[in-house]
Amino acid sequence: MKTTILIISLLLTGIIETIAQTYDTVWLSSLDISKATIGWGKPGADVSCMGNPIILDGITYKKGFGTHAPGVLYVKLSGGSARFHATVGINDEEKASVGSAIFKIYTKTDLLWQSDIVRSGGHAQSVDLSMAKLDTIIFCSETTADGPNYDHTDWADAYFLVKGSKPIAIDRPSEPAVILTPKAAPGPKINGPKVYGVRPGNDFIFRIAATGERPMVFKAKGLPAGLKLDSKTGIITGRVKKIGKYEVTLSATNIIGTSNRKLTIICGSQIALTPPLGWNSWNCFACAVDQDKVKAAADAMVKSGLADHGWSYINIDDCWMVQPESKDAVVGGEIRDDQGNMNVNRKFADMKGLTTYVHSLGLKIGTYSGPGPKTCAGYTACYKFEEKDALKFAELGFDYLKYDWCDYERIAKDHSLPELKKPYRVMRDALNKVNRDIIYSLCQYGMGDVWQWGTEVGGNCWRTTGDITDDWSSMESIGFGQAGKEKYAGPGHWNDPDMLVVGKVGWGPQLHTTRLTPNEQYTHISLWALLASPLLIGCDMTQLDDFTYSLLTNDEVLDINQDPIGKQASRILKDGNFEVWVKELEDGSKAVGLFNRSLFAAPVTVSWNDLGLAGNYIVRDLWSQHDEGNYSGSFTATIPSHGVKLVRIYKK
Ligand code: GLA
Repeated sequence: MKTTILIISLLLTGIIETIAQTYDTVWLSSLDISKATIGWGKPGADVSCMGNPIILDGITYKKGFGTHAPGVLYVKLSGGSARFHATVGINDEEKASVGSAIFKIYTKTDLLWQSDIVRSGGHAQSVDLSMAKLDTIIFCSETTADGPNYDHTDWADAYFLVKGSKPIAIDRPSEPAVILTPKAAPGPKINGPKVYGVRPGNDFIFRIAATGERPMVFKAKGLPAGLKLDSKTGIITGRVKKIGKYEVTLSATNIIGTSNRKLTIICGSQIALTPPLGWNSWNCFACAVDQDKVKAAADAMVKSGLADHGWSYINIDDCWMVQPESKDAVVGGEIRDDQGNMNVNRKFADMKGLTTYVHSLGLKIGTYSGPGPKTCAGYTACYKFEEKDALKFAELGFDYLKYDWCDYERIAKDHSLPELKKPYRVMRDALNKVNRDIIYSLCQYGMGDVWQWGTEVGGNCWRTTGDITDDWSSMESIGFGQAGKEKYAGPGHWNDPDMLVVGKVGWGPQLHTTRLTPNEQYTHISLWALLASPLLIGCDMTQLDDFTYSLLTNDEVLDINQDPIGKQASRILKDGNFEVWVKELEDGSKAVGLFNRSLFAAPVTVSWNDLGLAGNYIVRDLWSQHDEGNYSGSFTATIPSHGVKLVRIYKK
């Protein structure tokens, strides 16, 4: 008996030794994990996405790969790995939170393994898989229905047993940037909003957006008294005194022909009747902004042709005022003059000249401040000077004010609703005392469900989220996270899921091309158009490439965003990673976005039942601007990974 046991144990030791000798252990965390994309924080080698030890279910692991869902890492095995092992879960650093996620391992075509849902403070799970003959695998951690918050997903004790080629982390396969938007025709075509609001007696400035060869002659029939049109530039200016609804017919004529479009001008109490279309300096320049860059942006909006598609606001974000410590004020080195008027800093030495210049192009200009003593970047803000500052904004000719909570955190007693509303009411009252149409944009990142009371405090739009960045997880969690907020949006008051991150962005001074893939960029613009969101271009418009330009100049897509009834899309289907969103349009047709949030191309279907339709309808692809054909019952399209099919469903 003893001899048998001895022989067996000798044999086992031999086998174990052979395995140990034949296979190398390669830790997942030893690969170039900077190639991973993760939802938040930094991919961690042997630490969490926050840099803490990897602890799951009370056990501390020396080795592991710390991520945050949604996380993706491509690893090339080239057939050299025999097995993969890991223990997965949500790091105990979020033990008391409500994170939940699913871990998945894919080959390029198939799902190899998936965990159950793992939760903060819940149990970890182990995986031990054969990797024999596999070429490439993809490690994913995915969010669940409750979104990405607290999903600190760790692959603990994660290693390959390797014989032959070593695993290497690789970039996600690149996608070609396919331009779908047709080029504008040489004949005239009028674009832009079909309805525009102005308050009686206030400055009116509107540039007729039209593509086509120049020179062009513009006409406007039915303009209210007090407005005049420059027939060469297409810029309408003046003041309307009489409250009313004016049906105007705009026309543009060039050597090829004439195009007409109706514009309803409503002189009354409301502005921002369609979501503002423009540019903001923050996502490209942040505090590296100066007046030359803003002027160049305005020039680029016109010269590139963006203005011919309806883009019209040039908004300066933070960093134009004085920084209390730096004494960089233009006048006297002080934050405010003897009368309490706010000074600008030296980078904006001629603010009035700048606003006048932007207006001369038929564009509008916006500014930024906040209710606290300072802005987010530490520049002087409006606290206790609200009326003075509102007057100053009007005198300078600003048409848009983004009002950012940030430093008011020091003033507010708490985050109760009265405290959250208070500073926004104060500035609303101040703006009501000036004779200028200034779009009032609340920026407080969605606190206290601002969408429920943004209109009550007089906002024209309000940020529903924290700051966006140019990566998939940020954009998708913000964009798809808007579901359910549609009932709070409408003409004059819009949900704002933050500014666009296509083109060259970077929060200055260094810029880089957006890290969103081409399909992700189509998803971004399609979703924001469906959401009736304010569209504020966040890139350097002097460096527009053809692909970015095509994303921003598709008139059929922009018309969805600008539709006069101002409905925000609702999500009517969520089936795992597949979603369908629908926006009702003025003419009774429906704009529908079919989205695929998964890693692989897949068919997505919208059924007429879900849309409340019956019978035959034409399905029109909005990006390529062509009818796909007649469909009854449903429409299915194969959607690329992270991509979209944006269609309009209509009857002839
Ligand atoms: C906050 C806002 C941003 C930007 C910066 C400026 O973070 O959310 O959009 O305005 O402040 O400092």
